Order: sequence, then structure tokens, then C-alpha cells
Amino acid sequence: MRRGLVVGNWKMNGSLEFIENWISQYTAFLETQTETAICPPYVYISFLRNRLMTSAIHMGVGAQDCSVHNDGAYTGEVAANMLADVGCSFVIVGHSERRQYHSESNEMVAMKAQKVLEAGLRPIVCVGETLEEREAGRTNEVVLAQLNAVLDVIGPEMLVTGALAYEPVWAIGTGKTAIPEEAQEVHKILRDSVKSRNSDAGDSLRIIYGGSVKPSNAQKLFACPDIDGGLIGGASLKAEDFYAIAQAA
Ligand code: G3P
Repeated sequence: MRRGLVVGNWKMNGSLEFIENWISQYTAFLETQTETAICPPYVYISFLRNRLMTSAIHMGVGAQDCSVHNDGAYTGEVAANMLADVGCSFVIVGHSERRQYHSESNEMVAMKAQKVLEAGLRPIVCVGETLEEREAGRTNEVVLAQLNAVLDVIGPEMLVTGALAYEPVWAIGTGKTAIPEEAQEVHKILRDSVKSRNSDAGDSLRIIYGGSVKPSNAQKLFACPDIDGGLIGGASLKAEDFYAIAQAA
């Protein structure tokens, strides 16, 4: 039985005041069985972690990306070991918005996943196809290429320390959630691919879904046998919605 995982990706949103309000709203809720974490912008990681701890909310914090470098003359970048230094648990790598806006290749995503592991952190590796790729019948080809590039570098056993996130690009921020059967089909293909390398790792790996998850659709998505939780964008900005989604996992 895989424990549910629900992670909030705040993207480039938030402020110190926003975090104070989010925390005060979340304290009204009970603990969940589901493992939860929030990935705020880099600049708020320490503050959010400290406020979660002082509010006795058992929730991890993570980052939305990291450098492929450990240190040095890389202006504006943040190394995985720095994220470990400020108490991160998870690091999202390969989000479609990074792949699209920053030309991140499958190989670069694999290198980032390796850096996350070397820093003792847990990678959340994102894969997903565009609408054009889906309409061209290339979904499986695309997501398996993205997955295998990472598995070739870190192996299935290490991916299990984190999670794999299937985020169909056409469902991100659009309100057009993949129907559960569609998402389940891709999750199973991803899981079977991992199992083909290491059966136990494939069974243990948490594969979470991202793309317009809301309290209204989370239950049906998470009821699918190969969907182990969610990577939540917009809905994670509201504490009550994030809690409702976490409860559904
Ligand atoms: O990483 C999660 C994000 O891409 C999903 O965004 O707003 O569709 O939940 P959203």
C-alpha cells in the first residue's frame, strides 16, 4: 500500500503576508494520513518552513527547481545542497514550465534529479505531453522518453525516494483536468515501465497526477489504482482547498 502524497506547487506566487494567512487558515484543519508538502518560491522556503514548524503543522517544504551545478559562477541559480541547508525535503524537477520556458532537456532533468539525490533530498520528476503530442498519438512515446532519461541516470530504486508526477501540459492551469481513465492509463504505463527495470521499485513508486486538480475532482482521480496523490498548482494557494485535496488522497 503506497501512502498518498499531495504536494503544492505555488509557482511564482506568495508573499510573507500570504504565508501568514495560509498558515493561520490551515491550522483550522486536522492532520491528514496523506504526506503533504508545499513548494513555494525559493525566497520563502525558510520562512514557510519555520512557520509550519512553529504552528505544529506536519508538512514538508520543497523547491520548484534546482541547478545542475553544486556551486560557482552561476548567477541566479540555486544548488540542491543549498535547498537541503534550509530544510527542504523535496525538489520538483522537469516541470513543463521549466522545460518550455527554459529549454530544459530530458538529459538536463536527469542531471537535476541526480543533484537532488546527492544533496539527500527527494526528487519529484515531472513528465507530461503537450496537446499536440497527445493529438498526434505520441503521449506514451513522450512520457516514456522523459521517464527513461531519468531512470538511466538515477535508477528506479532512487526515484522511489521521491515521486514521479504525470502532468499533461494541456491540463495545467487550464481547468481541463484529464478524466480519471485517461490519467490512470498513463500512470499504469509509467509504472509498468519502472517495473520492467525493478518490479519492487515499480510497485513502491508513488506516481502523482498534476493538472487542474480541485477538491471537486480529486476523489475520483485518487481512487484510480495507479494514482497516488497530486501535484497541485492553483488550488494549493487556498489552504482549505489544499487540505480538501490532501484528505481525498
Ligand atoms: O505542478 C503543478 C501544476 O503544474 C498544476 O497546476 O494549476 O493546473 O493545478 P494547476
